[in-house]
Amino acid sequence: MNPSLPHPRGGRGKDGAPARAVAEPKNRGTLSTLTIATAKEVFELLREDLVAIEQELARDAASSVSTITEIAEYLREGGGKRIRPSLLLLAAHQLGYSGHGAVRLGAVVEMVHTATLVHDDIIDGADTRRGRPSANTTWGNEKCVLAGDWLYMQAFKVALEEKNFRVLELLILLTQQMVEGELLQIQKLGKAVSEAEYYDLIFRKTACLFSISMRLGAVLARATEAQEANLGTYGRAVGLAFQIVDDVLDLTATEEVLGKPVASDLREGKATLAVIHSYDHGTAEDRKAIQRVLDDRSFENVSRQQIREILIRNESVEYAMAAAFRYAEQSRQALAAFPDTDFKRALLWVPDFVVAREK
Ligand code: IPE
Ligand code: IPE
Ligand code: MG
Ligand code: MG
Repeated sequence: MNPSLPHPRGGRGKDGAPARAVAEPKNRGTLSTLTIATAKEVFELLREDLVAIEQELARDAASSVSTITEIAEYLREGGGKRIRPSLLLLAAHQLGYSGHGAVRLGAVVEMVHTATLVHDDIIDGADTRRGRPSANTTWGNEKCVLAGDWLYMQAFKVALEEKNFRVLELLILLTQQMVEGELLQIQKLGKAVSEAEYYDLIFRKTACLFSISMRLGAVLARATEAQEANLGTYGRAVGLAFQIVDDVLDLTATEEVLGKPVASDLREGKATLAVIHSYDHGTAEDRKAIQRVLDDRSFENVSRQQIREILIRNESVEYAMAAAFRYAEQSRQALAAFPDTDFKRALLWVPDFVVAREK
């Protein structure tokens, strides 16, 4: 038998058999009826700004040291979903902001994100990113650590142009949280962490940047405290859903589609939500098998197939996706107090995109 994990969106398993769909909970709340934007509409809404952000990113990739320019250019060209700058733009525009700061800070959050990816791929020993060899594969760890540092500082240099201490304060808070998140993750490698530890970790390493992107948009628009808090809550919830789905995709997707290594978390000794669920709710044998892979950092003694079988039997992917759907709903609820605009419709669409994404 070759059990295949259900794709988060349902559909068919590898062997052609219908995989169990992971149903979205029915009671999504009244707000959800407003979620009618499409990817195309959202892109159109932000098109000019996104083009301007690409131009800003191109300018910002230039250093007087050619190796840094080469690496920064390579990373920029690799593309990516640009989800964090999009959130920042939507937050700022929802609150009526129309200055250049949103483009500038959009580029800043994307650069911070890129810097964390460069460092993350070194730490994880990942050899692909965005469907291409990762920068560390091409230039080696030493140069890439430095290129990552340079990118962080380039982001801060551009942010400084806003001449706003609140902006710097948020970016410093963010960078420290992200570094702490990656460090905590290293400390917990090989351990079957608790759900609480898992959530703390993914908040720091991923959701914090989503939240800060929203809050930076709010700061530009001189939002009230309550508005900034609501947008921050939205970003946090979207970010948590985003990382839960990222972790599910590591278990269910193919490298071809995802553009980065799959089944890598367990091999790196990382227990993510679905695995934690099987560990906590499975049999003693299940626990032993999972711990073995975490200890070995390989599927040598317990195969990937055995792990799949454990996750399927315990319905753990469904469990993780249900958590992602809950955070998606929570994010929509956080927008309740804002007036209906195209930007709000776009913000309501983002969590749907996040939970349905395939890469
Ligand atoms: C990858 O983020 C890192 C995580 C937080 C999981 P994205 O999936 O947004 O990466 P790109 O920018 O689209 O490549
Ligand atoms: C998120 O963790 C990475 C960062 C926040 C930098 P992962 O290690 O799961 O991200 P991917 O899967 O490599 O993109
Ligand atoms: Mg990684
Ligand atoms: Mg991952």
